[in-house]
Amino acid sequence: MQVLSKLPVMTDPNLLVGLETGDDAAVYKLSEDIGLVFTVDFFPPVVDDPFSFGQIAASNALSDVYAMGARPLFALNIVGFPAELPKDILGEILKGGYSKAQEAKCLIAGGHTIDDKEPKYGMAVLGIVKPGEEVTKSGSKPGDKLILTKPLGTGIITTAAKQGQCSPELISSTIELMATLNSNASKCMVEIGVNAATDVTGFGLIGHLCSMMKESGTSATIQLSSVPAIEGVWKHISDGMIPGGSRRNAESSYQRVDWTNINLEQQLFLCDAQTSGGLLISVDKEKSDTLINDLHNNGCEHSVIIGEVKNHTDHLIKVVP
Ligand code: CO
Ligand code: CO
Repeated sequence: MQVLSKLPVMTDPNLLVGLETGDDAAVYKLSEDIGLVFTVDFFPPVVDDPFSFGQIAASNALSDVYAMGARPLFALNIVGFPAELPKDILGEILKGGYSKAQEAKCLIAGGHTIDDKEPKYGMAVLGIVKPGEEVTKSGSKPGDKLILTKPLGTGIITTAAKQGQCSPELISSTIELMATLNSNASKCMVEIGVNAATDVTGFGLIGHLCSMMKESGTSATIQLSSVPAIEGVWKHISDGMIPGGSRRNAESSYQRVDWTNINLEQQLFLCDAQTSGGLLISVDKEKSDTLINDLHNNGCEHSVIIGEVKNHTDHLIKVVP
């Protein structure tokens, strides 16, 4: 992002959402009824199994379209793959991606592969939304409830798995969680109407919430005890299974977050870098219980209220035990 700030800003009245707000996807108004929603995401394997990796990478790429309250139309694969690795592995990665695209009713219309030292996979995804109905990070209002739709800890669990410290059951339930599309969560929030949303990925819950609060001109209080955790996360945190990205997220949070009474392990949990995490939704207090019910009835059973939005204060976030 710092590199981007040195480039000239390109503007166009039809570019409804661009670089400035750091939203999940760009939105371009094609007509009064059609807004194009465009995003790209790819990364190296987070799990050993190639099919699962493909599913996770595709779900993660589609997630930015869902976070904007949009519907994916079609996608292009982006692949880096070492020439010396068996092509079957690449086949499995792509099959995983196709399975999720199919579930999302999103076509895969092509793609591009390059020779690379380390495999990488992801997608550029094009979606649509009615202009003006896109859900951004900047609409959060004091009094709103904050809802999170997936438990935290995928960074910690995948780090522990790489060190051989995880049970196969925990690995497979975490894979299933990361491979779960945010489509139903998105549908529920669009139906009821919400003020702001984003998906929780590499900057962790705290990083993505900070950016939502900054863009909205508000602050938030988060209750640690209400934030859902993947089973076994706390044990792996105390064993030191902390990814570098999560540590960096915590280090960069001190200016913006009031961590009084929250210990370092708890900070690392809330800052854990997520892969294909859930949606973070800011919704009117009056609608929050109904939305939680809708989410639970539509396969997002982990969804809970984790805090609320306040008037802007010195800190963007205050965490209470
Ligand atoms: Co995102
Ligand atoms: Co993204």
